[in-house]
Amino acid sequence: MDSSLYEGSHRDLFEIFLKLVDDSEAQTAALLDLISWEDTRSLLSIGGGEGIVEATLLRNAPQAKLWYLDPSPEQCQAFRRHMKQENLLERVADISEMTFQAYETQQKFDRIVSMFSWFYIGTDQRWLRKLLDLLSSNGAACLVLPNSESIEADFNRSLSPDKRTMLVGDEVMSALEAFDCKVTQHTYMKWLATNELFDGELASEASLAFAAFVALRSITTFTPDEKRHIVELLNARRAAQGVPLVWDVIVVKRVTDSNGY
Ligand SMILES: C[S@@+](CC[C@H](N)C(=O)[O-])C[C@H]1O[C@@H](n2cnc3c(N)ncnc32)[C@H](O)[C@@H]1O
Repeated sequence: MDSSLYEGSHRDLFEIFLKLVDDSEAQTAALLDLISWEDTRSLLSIGGGEGIVEATLLRNAPQAKLWYLDPSPEQCQAFRRHMKQENLLERVADISEMTFQAYETQQKFDRIVSMFSWFYIGTDQRWLRKLLDLLSSNGAACLVLPNSESIEADFNRSLSPDKRTMLVGDEVMSALEAFDCKVTQHTYMKWLATNELFDGELASEASLAFAAFVALRSITTFTPDEKRHIVELLNARRAAQGVPLVWDVIVVKRVTDSNGY
């Protein structure tokens, strides 16, 4: 990721964009709603970042310990800080500063969560097999990813130099068909307000920061043509309510359970 996006004056833009597109409360609510948490004993967070969602999940899974992995030293540090602030550090079994691909453990997990981090792992069968192998017999994994109908996916397809980050929920669904597991796709939407996305005929700074973040680019690298293209992309998805941000939760269960969750 281009760190300049988060520093200095870009930091303000990043915060404007986060305020615009943040749907983490609904994402956490979806995770809590889609599967049960109260009996969970082991939770693995893949690319957990600061761990805001993980803190809420732990509070809803009173018996659970959390295993956390993220290759970014800054994110691991922010996670440790956040867990300490939330008085949850003693519920953290392990913090691994590494990628999912490099992660090795004998532990099996009742719950595995990847919120907007599976782009870095992808649909290679080896990593999907590893995900399933890490689940305990009644375990479930939740992968939260953009849906192909989201403006996020449009920005990504058009502007990102890194094709990996185009991964959307539907692709993971298809790739998982090759495995003996139970998979369901749950799609959610948030309308982004038109007056925040546009500045007259132009894209607002929040939109540009959003497009830059999704495409892993610095906002200063957008050419005038690309800025016009961002407006076209926004207009193509524009409806009376705004522009849709659509995301999927892919729930993967290793076995068909009879417990009704
Ligand atoms: C967009 S952030 C999402 C952070 C957090 N889950 C959230 O929803 O706020 C993606 C995270 O994935 C991490 N990441 C990057 N490559 C990874 C990999 N190969 N395996 C696991 N995590 C990875 C990044 O360091 C970053 O913290």
